[in-house]
Amino acid sequence: AADISSLYKESGIFTYDPGFMSTASCHSAITYIDGEDGILLYRGYPIEQLATKASFLEVAYLLLYGELPVETELVGFEKLITRHTMLNENLKDFLNGFHYDAHPMAILIGVVGSLSAFYHDSLSVNDARHREISAHRLIAKLPTIAAAAYKHSIGEPIMYPRNDLRYCANFLHMMFATPCEVYKPTLIAEKAMNLLFILHADHEQNASTSTVRLAGSSGANPFACVAAGIASLWGPAHGGANEAVLDMLHEIGDVKNVQRYMEKAKDKDDPFRLMGFGHRVYKNYDPRAKIIREVCHQVLEELADTNNPLFELAMKLEEIALSDDYFVERKLYPNVDFYSGIIYQALGIPRNMFTVMFAVARTVGWVSHWMEMMSDPNNRIGRPRQIYHGPTQRDYLPISKR
Ligand code: ACO
Repeated sequence: AADISSLYKESGIFTYDPGFMSTASCHSAITYIDGEDGILLYRGYPIEQLATKASFLEVAYLLLYGELPVETELVGFEKLITRHTMLNENLKDFLNGFHYDAHPMAILIGVVGSLSAFYHDSLSVNDARHREISAHRLIAKLPTIAAAAYKHSIGEPIMYPRNDLRYCANFLHMMFATPCEVYKPTLIAEKAMNLLFILHADHEQNASTSTVRLAGSSGANPFACVAAGIASLWGPAHGGANEAVLDMLHEIGDVKNVQRYMEKAKDKDDPFRLMGFGHRVYKNYDPRAKIIREVCHQVLEELADTNNPLFELAMKLEEIALSDDYFVERKLYPNVDFYSGIIYQALGIPRNMFTVMFAVARTVGWVSHWMEMMSDPNNRIGRPRQIYHGPTQRDYLPISKR
């Protein structure tokens, strides 16, 4: 092994913490998680109360500004966000450049990143007013871009936002209306969407939020930072899990195959993992999964889809896993993504849009963290070190002598 001690002579002591299992990267007053007891608070409010009582934009206001809005503040905020829902017409050309079968997450990364080229008037990251306008723009435009990505993939014209509709209803309109057909979302669809968006709005320093913070710590503009966050979210170990759960349920196919797949998940030589199970922080039931499971029942009941085979399969899988020593010992419980895909599917959202839905909701968390970091006078560029294990110094040899 190379003697590397001399290479670190002036650097002092490092902590080596792959995966940041026990490293706090910042101070934050936004979200609190107690992974042992399964507690999640946004600005001190329990997720269970917000999910059942608040609107998504109310929660967005709370995450951004730290307090629940009074009525006039909420009305003002809703108006502000509504005002920014339109996209620049030239963005349509950008969107049309994507192949029709591009994954909507790929489109989202590209189009959100390109917003930096359209909104020069709010790119001064050291100006608090600019930061706030950019945050509003991102929250307002993400649903429009997400729905446009979907319309592009199915070859339908993009639907413009309707500013007389609430945030979630407007999103459903842009997804499912056509120029020849009005789409009126059912109350249960709007309610379910509102709830899923609230549950996904923030989750402290997860991979994508840490990515946004790290990108932003260099002074990069928020549109570029959020595009980076979307890229990080896409992976199946993070936001991509909701899509992967449905792929897995389809692959398992029938309750009679569950046991075989459980054995595969436990086999260390098999790459198969039970998607939607396990969490870095929760070593107890993910409180969001509990809420989603309940709502899944309600949505399927109201849509008269009570015999949904995927839901039955998911519940069976959960039942078996929760009494299996392997999962019990490792404290592996369903996470937020285990049931969310089943609700999205029941609402008619296609599978490749599931992670996009997550990104729309999480944008609120990303911009809240970015705003918090940028207004902190102690903010410095994030710059982790490494434990080098390559060769020690050696001399260049001409190619004929190697
Ligand atoms: N299926 C089978 N075994 C699992 C699973 C799973 N889903 N998750 C963890 N394990 C096992 C590991 O193999 C490991 O076993 P070992 O101690 O015998 O080696 C042990 O449980 C600990 O797992 P780690 O991988 O070390 O846990 P980590 O915190 O690094 O990973 C993660 C967490 C990525 C969420 C993991 O549980 C996983 O891959 N789950 C499936 C993907 C998923 O659902 N992701 C969504 C997370 S929630 C979100 O981002 C919104």
